[in-house]
Amino acid sequence: MPDNTLQQRQTFGIISHPDAGKTTLTEKLLLFGGAIQTAGAVKSNKITKTATSDFMEIEKQRGISVATSVMGFEYKGFKINILDTPGHKDFAEDTYRTLTAVDSVILVIDSAKGIEDQTRKLMEVCRMRSTPVIIFINKLDREGKDPFELLDEIEKEFKIHTRPLTWPIGMGNSFKGVYNIYDKNLKLFAINKTEISTNSAQIEDILDHKLEEIIGKPSATSLRDDINFIEELYEPFDKSLYLDGLLAPVFFGSAINNFGVQELLDTFIRIAPFPQPRNTDVRKVNPEEPEFTGFIFKIHANLDPNHRDRIAFCRIVSGKFERNKYYYHTRLDKKVRFSNPTSFMANEKTIIDSSLPGDVVGLYDTGIFKIGDTLTEGEKMNFQGIPSFSPELFKELINKDPFKTKQLEKGIRQLTDEGVAQLFIQQPGNIKIVGTVGDLQFEVIQFRLLHEYSAACIFQHLNYYKACWITSKDPKELDRFINMKSRLIAYDKENLPVYLAESAWMLKTTQENFPKIEFHFTSEFKTDQKSISEASYW
Ligand code: G4P
Repeated sequence: MPDNTLQQRQTFGIISHPDAGKTTLTEKLLLFGGAIQTAGAVKSNKITKTATSDFMEIEKQRGISVATSVMGFEYKGFKINILDTPGHKDFAEDTYRTLTAVDSVILVIDSAKGIEDQTRKLMEVCRMRSTPVIIFINKLDREGKDPFELLDEIEKEFKIHTRPLTWPIGMGNSFKGVYNIYDKNLKLFAINKTEISTNSAQIEDILDHKLEEIIGKPSATSLRDDINFIEELYEPFDKSLYLDGLLAPVFFGSAINNFGVQELLDTFIRIAPFPQPRNTDVRKVNPEEPEFTGFIFKIHANLDPNHRDRIAFCRIVSGKFERNKYYYHTRLDKKVRFSNPTSFMANEKTIIDSSLPGDVVGLYDTGIFKIGDTLTEGEKMNFQGIPSFSPELFKELINKDPFKTKQLEKGIRQLTDEGVAQLFIQQPGNIKIVGTVGDLQFEVIQFRLLHEYSAACIFQHLNYYKACWITSKDPKELDRFINMKSRLIAYDKENLPVYLAESAWMLKTTQENFPKIEFHFTSEFKTDQKSISEASYW
């Protein structure tokens, strides 16, 4: 059992473009961590390809087990928490928010495909927050791109330095294994989907003739050339650069074959950050502080009509969270208490008495939480860095049953508090505009409004390109802008004005024509946090 110190806790997320191998790697890490005994034991939140257009099917899969949202396990005296991130692009915002609750990430890349679309967006979020990243290049058992080319591609696209810590010997049919550059040993590859590979040889000196005997002359020669090249080309691994998010150590392997995973995990526990401080609107909170603080980064609603409960996921930032103790809900200015907080170990959910920084506790939520809410022992402050992103799809919500107006109002407000979508109100007429990043969310909302709130609605497509929050140092200019563009102005739930741009071109022209107006693509401007820049594509 690990010591309950912060120095032995690591909370991270695994990110990838769908199909690169995130689910497989997660499972293999749990296997190595002894949290599960056989591959295939963890049902994941993964949404299968067949279900991409069927939202109920997706919800069923998503809801298989709330427990897989956080997978905790113990390994060599460390408590490790993996926070699951949905791979489906329509749930991208869930993923971005989960990334606010981790201290580092492992990025999985398919060696044949290299960098893909979703990887770009996810890495952008990590780069904004300077999150430390370890890269795992997967599927070496198949023919893929040249490893040096892959590293180049990563460096150029992500503007991050890389440093290989293991190196592959061949690939596809001629894949022989990986050489661990730091521990100087060789792991030989064998196809093995269920067990942990132990076939390794210590090669202290890469010039040792044993190398030829083990992998053959041609492979030995090319491995030596590659290692020489790496030593010349790449700086030695510098942990502090990694912790600052400037350098990504790289591992190669084949997750499905349990290969290269142990090297990854053993290095992870040595270098990955322990629970990190977080900023609030008042001050920075350090994990060592004795008083409990935490924030809600995700709310999971159960669609099963027999268990209509919601679970709010709280990342503990400092102090000790205790069951049945009163905490201060800073947004509601109210004391709250939790009698059944849950923790997550592998795929088991258990009620806990206390939890420490880095951990995530599940709190049964009767509707009091919104994404981004802060809990403290009494101090008035709000954690920052849990932004809403400017949506990309817009539809007008139309009430189909005038007798259920109240239910519809309540329903849409609660669903948007959960982070399913964003709600904007446009006047005159109190028009409700729902903005999302994916089409599926509209189906989710329609279904849930009907089943949970008995409110029937339809959606009507709106031709907007982006919603951006607008501010100005000159209040008169802001008023003038709002009056001139009234047809394209709506208000978010906090009554802050947003501009609904009809196209990229219109947005650009408007920005040029109104230089005194600031256009914001994430809600972060509200908290004025500098570490999150506003990437133009949001
Ligand atoms: P994801 O969560 O990132 O979406 O990916 P997932 O782990 O589900 O992996 C996607 C596909 O890639 C799966 O195949 C999986 O078996 C395969 N895969 C993962 N790691 C490796 C690897 O190291 N080598 C090879 N060759 N394949 C790998 P699938 O056919 O889509 O699903 P399944 O029927 O195998 O479950």
